[in-house]
Amino acid sequence: MNIIKYRTHTCGELNTNNIGQYVILSGWIHNIRNFGYFSFLDLRDRFGITQLKINNQIYNTSVISNESIITIKGTVLERSKINENLYTGKIEVLVNKIKVLNDSKKIPIIIANKKNNESIRLKYRYLDLRSELLTNNIIMRNKTYIEIRKYLLNCSFLEIDTPILSVPTSEGARNFTVKYRFDQKYSYSLSQSPQIFKQLLMIGGFDKYFQFAKCFRDEDFRRNRQIEFTQLDCEMSFINSDEILKIFERLIIILIKKFNGENIKRIKRITYKEAIEKYGTDKPDTRYSLKFTNITKLVFNDNINIVKPKKQTIAIKIPFYFFKNNNNVYKSLIKTVKTNDIKIKDIVFISNNIVNKAKYNITKKIKNNIKKLVKASKKDIIVIFFDQNFLKLGKLRKTIYKTLRPKLKKKISPLWITKFPLFKKVNNKLKSVHHPFTAPIPEHIKYLKTKPEIVKSQSYDLIINGIEIGGGSIRINKKDLQKKIFSILGYSKQKIKVEFGFFLEALEFGTPPHGGIAFGIERLMSILTLEKDIKNFIAFPKNKYGIDLMCKTPRKIF
Ligand code: AMO
Repeated sequence: MNIIKYRTHTCGELNTNNIGQYVILSGWIHNIRNFGYFSFLDLRDRFGITQLKINNQIYNTSVISNESIITIKGTVLERSKINENLYTGKIEVLVNKIKVLNDSKKIPIIIANKKNNESIRLKYRYLDLRSELLTNNIIMRNKTYIEIRKYLLNCSFLEIDTPILSVPTSEGARNFTVKYRFDQKYSYSLSQSPQIFKQLLMIGGFDKYFQFAKCFRDEDFRRNRQIEFTQLDCEMSFINSDEILKIFERLIIILIKKFNGENIKRIKRITYKEAIEKYGTDKPDTRYSLKFTNITKLVFNDNINIVKPKKQTIAIKIPFYFFKNNNNVYKSLIKTVKTNDIKIKDIVFISNNIVNKAKYNITKKIKNNIKKLVKASKKDIIVIFFDQNFLKLGKLRKTIYKTLRPKLKKKISPLWITKFPLFKKVNNKLKSVHHPFTAPIPEHIKYLKTKPEIVKSQSYDLIINGIEIGGGSIRINKKDLQKKIFSILGYSKQKIKVEFGFFLEALEFGTPPHGGIAFGIERLMSILTLEKDIKNFIAFPKNKYGIDLMCKTPRKIF
């Protein structure tokens, strides 16, 4: 029997402690540099790269191609020229036996080159996975799972799987359906999230649950969305939202420290209302300030000579570091303002002086009061907006940042947003802002029938650098309230009975108070590494049309 030993070490393992040892390595040929008498060959596996030195008279390296797979035997030597970038950079292996295990034909993509055409990269995903970028990302994802498991198991959570062939869970996206073989009238829905099942687990007494859950949502493409993605999904009983945020704040801080290096002490909490009034969005990027200050009172108390009736007036301070290298800051700002559909006449720029002529007259006294209120230094610019809505200013805030692109002091800035409205109006119909199982705050239950739009919920989202990374809530645990919410949402009696009858019944059997949260794993990874494309954290992602270019699916099934 021909027994071959493939390796004594990996390609990322050898260092000066191994000098003089006889070793066996296997891997892919990363590159070959021929220097006449000797060739240098980089041998790669997922652990790293080791330089091999090959006497061309022992082996003719010109006959093997990059990405072929070989096994070598040789002696570890100290390198004359050290490569500080590699763990193995102080040694090389002088090869005396080499065996080609499998040839590679010329590969269609340049490995480790992000600029490759994306379709080709996705078609040859298994080759792209060999790149340093994807290898590191997939390894990091695995390490993140380990870290999360360690933390949650330590907090007495249980890891439990829930079904993927499931029921629609009202997470707001379209469902993927799978026909039931015995009766084509019936279908399963692929799970959009384990929401209902995790609540049923609480009713089943499991108290603290988590899962890395596969979720399927037939949604339109965006850079941080995939139709198939993974959530870290959690649920707990006998818990309030403050306790939930504390548990997960600790986890997020640990992950940021471990994988990003940033030391974060606390994650600030602000309400949805504050987020809208300070940043004009419920997903503020707080790596930079550009906060809104409402100066309506100040401006009108001072009897400003305003042409039109009293209007909401907002000031945004643009700190000096935003534009210290920009000689044309006003030009840039004016362009930014115009692209956000705001008339220049409706704003006033203040730096040392009032810069532009607007239809509003700001006195020197008011100017100084505004400067004091927004804590502006001499060099900062303050922009004052009359009668603009918060959401418009929120978009403007983002474009000011994108236009001026200041160097940021913070790499990563997490924030909790709490107390979202329970409902939003879409095409004149009420929809859940989160999902229909979210509990209203107790003091607002009385408004459910009469003024549902003002009802706030016991909900929270984790936003990092302006991206929603996670969200959750305290749940409704009483049948009557749950039924009421379904009917406010306009669900028919039939729908309530057929789709949610079993769940409503379950709520009648001593359902504990409970709540939970879910984080998008790919989004979390991308934020920890500051890499925008979540595809880079999925071994086999779909393209923007939901197509797997490698397997060529979806396709006709024979
Ligand atoms: P939600 O729908 O907000 O909540 O999802 C939670 C988190 O999952 C991530 N996410 C996605 N990631 C990639 N591609 C997508 N298409 C996608 N959709 C969502 C986001 C999001 O914050 N059951 C509730 C959670 C709960 O209430 O406990 C839920 O699924 O990071």
